[in-house]
Amino acid sequence: MQTSEKIHPDQIESESISIYRDIGPYKGYECRDKYVVIYGEHANLTVKLVTPGIVRISVSLKGRDAELEPSKALLPYEPLEGWNVIERNNGLEITGGNIVLVVDIATLSFYVKTGQGTLCGSYKLSFSDTAVRCQGSMDDEAMIYGLGETTGYLNKRGERYTMWNSDVFDPHVSDMESLYQSIPLLIHHASDNTFGLFIDNPGRTVVDLREALDSYFIETASGEMDLYFITGPGFKDVVTNYSILTGKMPLPPLWSLGYQQSRFSYMNQEEVIQLAHNFRSKGIPCDVIYLDIHYMDDYKVFTFDKDRFPDPAAMMSELKELGFRIVPVVDPGVKVQDGYEVYEQGVEEGRFCQTPDGKEYVGAVWPGPSVFPDFTDEVTREWWGALHQFYVDYGISGIWNDMNEPSVFNSPTKTMDDNVIHRNDGNPKTHGEMHNIYSLLMSQATYEGMEKLLQGERPFVLTRAGYAGIQRYATVWTGDNRSYWDHMRLSMSMGLNLGLSGVAFCGADIGGFMHHASGELLARWTQLGVFTPFCRNHSAVDTRNQEPWTFNDEVEEICQKYIEFRYRMLPYLYSLFYESTCTGLPIMRPLVLEYPKDRNTYHLSDQFLLGKDLLVAPIYEPGKQHRVVYLPEGIWFDYWTGTRYEGGAHIIAHAPLDVLPLYIRAGAILPQTQLMQHTGQAIWQELDIHLYTQGVTSAFTLYEDDGLSDRYAQGAYNLIQISTEENDRRYTISAAYEVCGLQQDDKSILFTVHHLSFIPKSVNLISEVPEMKHLEEQSFGWYYDKQDNQLYIKTQLAGLQEVEIIVEG
Ligand code: GLC
Repeated sequence: MQTSEKIHPDQIESESISIYRDIGPYKGYECRDKYVVIYGEHANLTVKLVTPGIVRISVSLKGRDAELEPSKALLPYEPLEGWNVIERNNGLEITGGNIVLVVDIATLSFYVKTGQGTLCGSYKLSFSDTAVRCQGSMDDEAMIYGLGETTGYLNKRGERYTMWNSDVFDPHVSDMESLYQSIPLLIHHASDNTFGLFIDNPGRTVVDLREALDSYFIETASGEMDLYFITGPGFKDVVTNYSILTGKMPLPPLWSLGYQQSRFSYMNQEEVIQLAHNFRSKGIPCDVIYLDIHYMDDYKVFTFDKDRFPDPAAMMSELKELGFRIVPVVDPGVKVQDGYEVYEQGVEEGRFCQTPDGKEYVGAVWPGPSVFPDFTDEVTREWWGALHQFYVDYGISGIWNDMNEPSVFNSPTKTMDDNVIHRNDGNPKTHGEMHNIYSLLMSQATYEGMEKLLQGERPFVLTRAGYAGIQRYATVWTGDNRSYWDHMRLSMSMGLNLGLSGVAFCGADIGGFMHHASGELLARWTQLGVFTPFCRNHSAVDTRNQEPWTFNDEVEEICQKYIEFRYRMLPYLYSLFYESTCTGLPIMRPLVLEYPKDRNTYHLSDQFLLGKDLLVAPIYEPGKQHRVVYLPEGIWFDYWTGTRYEGGAHIIAHAPLDVLPLYIRAGAILPQTQLMQHTGQAIWQELDIHLYTQGVTSAFTLYEDDGLSDRYAQGAYNLIQISTEENDRRYTISAAYEVCGLQQDDKSILFTVHHLSFIPKSVNLISEVPEMKHLEEQSFGWYYDKQDNQLYIKTQLAGLQEVEIIVEG
């Protein structure tokens, strides 16, 4: 523990002051085949077009003609041709695609704008003995979003971050400069202009947004700075365009969208089986149980402890019967122990990271002295991937990668030494240069290895650490939070910025990892957690248990109600996942993404949208039953009571413990399905599609596939387009199987139309039934519930069929 002594004036070391010099003046330029090089006195700039709206500007002090290799986070791209360079008295104007770059002759400072004249900031480059610095301009009213996983609020302006993956066990607080993930993406947003700046540097990178009101700076320690300017024009375009650089999440297996239960640790086979039975006997849906480090023999990865887990195969088959999956933790540290095959084989084949004098780098983690695979080498990734046969043989298809910053207990830096050498496929680099990408490459090794071994089944990988692009291989959880109400609030802004930074599939430990949850906290956090893309309850050794039933009946019922809500909502949720695989857009969205011109949304860190239609406004303080909710423009309905609100206003929500304030946008199309105790196929034989009308035309694409295999990539999926329109006493619902790559039976659909503005008299081709219960027995029919103003229409839909339902009043 630290005391006030920490800030004793005599102990504060004064920061060494670095002298920064311009990299200019300009010495000339050269137009190469597909790029332009601008030469300066001290550095050169290489300018390439990735797409007509994304320009890459690399700055290198390391030689006049240096061409930077993009990091392994970037997807390969072929630079576009067609640059036009004009030299003027005091500047150089370079045009390519929809980008105009204007460089100052004296200093090599530059600004970037689009062909339409929208300014994407001006930048001043300088260097010191130890770093390259880029100072960027910031509009008065601009917000800065993105930056991956950081504490604090949604808008990052005023904060400083060091991109350096760190295992932070201390309670996560707002002034934490580094956490487990580093995603150096800044999304600059003002009401009439959004653009992104991505800094591709897996070494230590500082992003300082405190400096001055109208500027910020970025500093890299490697002598190089690789900048990508991402234009929009809209906010969503910027997020989608960023995914062109670093990729999109592949479609995860449906089971990984289910509720997941974890603890450090479920100690033995009996406890795991008992846990699974508890879920089933209580009727609380659950798909996954995690095995934390105690499942291993002496914390050796790719082993089971023979006393605690004497018969993993029998355990797995019983769990399979019950509809559970197991996800074991796999850390990078490999125990140094003679006779341990993974260690011996790795040493023999040269698979581990080495110190500059060619010895294995050894650091202590859970197993004691350990060595670390050098994931920067493709052969090592393949080797590591193949080792997962051990788990696949037990029927395991999900892996949890942890401690992969990498965390090293006994090192002063708490990670691998900076001078450890990574072979990097023949282009050796130091750990200092590659630190942040280590975890990405571990997740890649795990994902690709599992993908091969599973032969057509989709793998699931969960990771703690990561770098830009991590979404291509893994789901991210936000590490060791605590059972603090504050951390519950924090999980929203963290998830929202992760989502804007490409990581759509993310979530926090529900209930909090360290410290002791209370029943009230668990109830509230579960209400929030079921609306986050990744939904796992996890807690630490020696803390109070926090499975849904460990408090009292009320808390258990609340957890059950909300977990059930998630399972019913799977068609909506899975369709959002599908959308994200196509667009790179987040699933859990800050309001500003959907309402970029509405200033009331700019700072909203404590409410969010799931997709564009569900607005979630959790209670995140103890004893509270009310909170302020901002509803953006349009009409909104309270999900539970149906109360109608005009948007563009703040309202007070009343939320006793069993109520999560939840609002649904007029125009929303919310497909739901029957409740199940665990997920199955994502082919929704029976669909309940809730339509929220009020004159708003709307559309939704429902996605279906087998939920498990990679056959969707070859077209084995279905898309149902649903749209609605309401005009003067006429309401039309269209549903069409637009793509039908999966054979299946006719689908039964029950539409529930909420808040119709007229009393229905007829529905084309469908007859009215006298009572609601008839709809349970019949395949077609409609019924109008006057009291609740809800119209129910039941119909069938066959493959490639299109139906148009016209309701007239
Ligand atoms: C780390 C992880 C935590 C896990 C523990 C033991 O602290 O962040 O989730 O339970 O290690 O493996």
